[in-house]
Amino acid sequence: MRTATAVAHPNIALVKYWGKRDVARNLPAVPSLSLTLDRFTTTTTVSPADRDEVVLGGAPAPDDEAGRVLGLLDRLAPDRPRVRVVSANNFPSAAGLASSASAFAALALAGAAALRRPLDRVALSVLARQGSGSACRSLWGGFVEWRMGERDDGADSHGVPVAPADHWDVRMVVGVVSSAKKAVGSTTGMTRARTSPYWPAWEATAAADVAEARAAVLARDLERLGAVMERSTFKMHATTSTAASPFLYWQANTVACVQAVWSLRERGVPAWVTMDAGPNVKVLCAPDAADAVSAAMAPYAERTIALAPGGEPTVELA
Ligand code: DP6
Repeated sequence: MRTATAVAHPNIALVKYWGKRDVARNLPAVPSLSLTLDRFTTTTTVSPADRDEVVLGGAPAPDDEAGRVLGLLDRLAPDRPRVRVVSANNFPSAAGLASSASAFAALALAGAAALRRPLDRVALSVLARQGSGSACRSLWGGFVEWRMGERDDGADSHGVPVAPADHWDVRMVVGVVSSAKKAVGSTTGMTRARTSPYWPAWEATAAADVAEARAAVLARDLERLGAVMERSTFKMHATTSTAASPFLYWQANTVACVQAVWSLRERGVPAWVTMDAGPNVKVLCAPDAADAVSAAMAPYAERTIALAPGGEPTVELA
């Protein structure tokens, strides 16, 4: 084997991945569509070593996280030699953005190059998906769809590029309401949400939302994309608050940010909200609206960060 370093960006779902039809393989119950973000990156190096070692953000990884990382490399090459994996984000976890997407995309790329497994991008997306579902979308820049696929082995469940980063200059403004670790992780949240009586409606309407979002992206129609993104968001969160044992990712300031953005929109600034498995609010808007959106959320957020569409992941050999 040899040493390889990959760099990948996180992504934010515009139409959400929420629910698994196969938990072990991370096969989704619904298709989804995301925007890869610029500036923020995970950099991961895989190199030969005397014993397996995983270093995340400068510190040895806890056993469960190391197991997830090494498990992905075992899938790639069951007879692999021992490796050292060093991974770090250039964005603080306090940014409130999920890092599992960029982390497993970078790991799949660096691992395949280091272990001399020449996989194409689709195969890398299938591999990254098994680390964390949303990671299969970070194998491409710009706007990316995750087709859920039909096969039991998951070989047809991967990202598909819809439009590259330079197709459309939009902004995603992140309002960091709380940087504390989330109480209900996404994997657990999806399982619990399945008990909602609204779950069948969530599954039944997802494909139409993805088709609508794809058409909106291709037409560069911000209002159409924003509207379907908000619908997908609130349907997803309706499944948590109506689960057999209800739970909510929002905090008071989450709702305050949503109201602030909506009142901005009533005053003529086109901006739409989305939330994932945590309290932070992300706002889709045009570049020239980003400052107004940041100012509207500022009273309720620890910080705001405006991000543009990001590019493709990269990999280099040492
Ligand atoms: C709400 O990809 O983190 O952010 O597959 O269990 O690792 P696992 O889940 P993960 O879930 C992301 C859920 C979401 C929506 C999305 O990103 O599509």
